[in-house]
Amino acid sequence: MRIDSNTQLNFVIGSPIKQSKSPDIHAKMYKVLNINAVLIAIDTPNLPDFVQSMKTLNAGMCAITLPYKTDILQYVDSMSEEVKALGAANTLINREGKIHALNTDVHGIQSGLEDVELKNKNVLIIGAGGAARATAYALKDSNVHIYWMNRTEDKVKLLIQTFGGTYLDADQARTRDIDIIINTTSVGMHPHVDESPLPAYRFKPNQTVFDLIYNPQVTRLLREARQAGAHGISGERLFVEQAIKQIEFCYDVKVDARCRNELHDY
Ligand code: ATR
Repeated sequence: MRIDSNTQLNFVIGSPIKQSKSPDIHAKMYKVLNINAVLIAIDTPNLPDFVQSMKTLNAGMCAITLPYKTDILQYVDSMSEEVKALGAANTLINREGKIHALNTDVHGIQSGLEDVELKNKNVLIIGAGGAARATAYALKDSNVHIYWMNRTEDKVKLLIQTFGGTYLDADQARTRDIDIIINTTSVGMHPHVDESPLPAYRFKPNQTVFDLIYNPQVTRLLREARQAGAHGISGERLFVEQAIKQIEFCYDVKVDARCRNELHDY
């Protein structure tokens, strides 16, 4: 990696930030795309000062992770339709001194599902947090029926008001005819790799299971689904695609299929 007077500073902010894989994937993207930039991870910034310093330092972009996805919005100059609808951003772009908030997770989720037939399918979304909301938003024009399953039933009510769908408890989820299962919770994430959000579930070969977790790349949920012959999609796909979209917006480039393949090997 070269650093010179033209190297642009980019950031990822979050807390904790140590586990973030954004510096790795961005370093790889900059190399593959020949972009002179470096992405630095920062824990617990003072948000208003941080946004101001993006302008002062002429930073290109900043990836936003938990817990700042919503709090950051009060300090930005503009936001995309997705961000307005979701109340959460995962990206800031510096456009000539104005900070614009985006949510490229929505694109990453759509990209993960791009080879899956969605029309008239029954989709089970597990979880009811920000990732579940982004998932329902990503599916809003797909003509699917959403079933919601969550540890806390109450949290699903607001999502049903916004996106429609039906609540299922764990027993109902096991017996309902489901085509696509999407895990948006952190259950099964490193270091709790022995956990599953859907234990003792009988997966079917015609099902698709998309686990938004990318660490590990193959979760217990995904492993069990694949063992039963179901089509499994790893959160690694979402992670790489949302990062590609960040770079496409920031540097006004189009990442072609060959570069994409290199990045998906990351
Ligand atoms: P994010 O913004 O990443 O979606 P979040 O808002 O904290 O994160 O949402 C996490 C979701 O995962 C929630 O739906 C949470 O369930 P609750 O609504 O009951 O809190 C779910 N979740 C997290 N840990 C869980 C666990 N151990 N078992 C079941 N569900 C869990």
